[in-house]
Amino acid sequence: MRTLFLSAKSAATLISKAGIARCIRELVGEINQDFRHWEQFDKSARLAAHSAQGVIEIMPVSNQQTYGFKYVNGHPNNYRHELPTVMAFGVLADVATGQPEFISELTLITALRTAATSVLAAIHMANPRARSMALIGNGAQSEFQAVAFHELLGIDTFYLYDIDFSATEKLANHLYELGFNTILCGSVPEAVREVDIITTATAAKTHANVLSMNMLRPGVHINAIGGDCPGKTELHPDILNNASVFVEYEPQTRIEGEIQQMPADFPVTELWKVLTGVAAGRVTSDQITVFDSVGFALEDFSAMRYIKRLALANGGLESLGLIPDLTDPKNLYGLLVPTEVA
Ligand SMILES: NC(=O)c1ccc[n+]([C@@H]2O[C@H](COP(=O)([O-])OP(=O)(O)OC[C@H]3O[C@@H](n4cnc5c(N)ncnc54)[C@H](O)[C@@H]3O)[C@@H](O)[C@H]2O)c1
Repeated sequence: MRTLFLSAKSAATLISKAGIARCIRELVGEINQDFRHWEQFDKSARLAAHSAQGVIEIMPVSNQQTYGFKYVNGHPNNYRHELPTVMAFGVLADVATGQPEFISELTLITALRTAATSVLAAIHMANPRARSMALIGNGAQSEFQAVAFHELLGIDTFYLYDIDFSATEKLANHLYELGFNTILCGSVPEAVREVDIITTATAAKTHANVLSMNMLRPGVHINAIGGDCPGKTELHPDILNNASVFVEYEPQTRIEGEIQQMPADFPVTELWKVLTGVAAGRVTSDQITVFDSVGFALEDFSAMRYIKRLALANGGLESLGLIPDLTDPKNLYGLLVPTEVA
């Protein structure tokens, strides 16, 4: 019995060959489709193991045919160990038999799916004439966000800010190579003053107040992806009180998102309702909208099915002997008895 495996190196080759923008565009389609079938999925908030340094989480979801889960961590100080803040892998299994069919790297693919989900939400929540975006936090996720918003929303000018100037320089160099306009800023207020969209992708295990109400102009859309764990938020509560707030899966976001700072009955709208037309996205041009994103298992499920199909068509898959081959499934012990195996 073989399990297909996609390594980080093969995923990078596959995505580079297909094109990052194309992969994000196709992923937006996949995530949109799966969110539109929201009620067909068995959903739960992710299971988190917290420590002083960070969090390790398991994110399961399934439909009638396929079960999937992602293992992911969030350790903001990992750069001190030369490790990424976020590392992930995932599994797809057959519901009918439980057989694990596919194991994939998901560190890179998480960045793609997060950018795809961010822009899918922004298509419905940002001002249709939006052309500029601030990127606050210029680490691993940031280039993917810029590519997604350029490709699907036509954002052509990016205002960059990070407390670590070398991260901003790294991002600016990559965006320059892509031909995007970039403006390097010395503070958050400077970066967000004139923009139509703000993405906050900072990593710090604290209630950070990266943005406060007095920095914002009417009509701005905030794509808040960095506050994704208890005790880890980016927005001052006043912003939430003055905005329309959208979430992925409400039970999980109440624990992990910006709205952990708000009362339990604070009104929010789930993304799938906007995508299916059950609820409105942006209604007026001066409304402040917030996508309080924490990352939901269904986005990884969509991404794993997408990348598996891409790899089946273009190569890069290996085969793992993860589950023992047994001629008699009841004779597991026989594996340990050389004569019986022979
Ligand atoms: N919502 C989701 O689906 C999702 C998915 C992936 C990652 N995340 C979260 O997004 C955040 C960014 O992830 P990453 O992989 O890019 O992390 P990263 O560590 O690579 O980058 C984070 C950057 O934020 C900067 N930063 C920290 N505090 C700041 C502040 N107050 N102002 C400006 N910059 C600041 C750091 O210097 C760093 O460069 C993390 O918190 C992560 O947990 C969310």
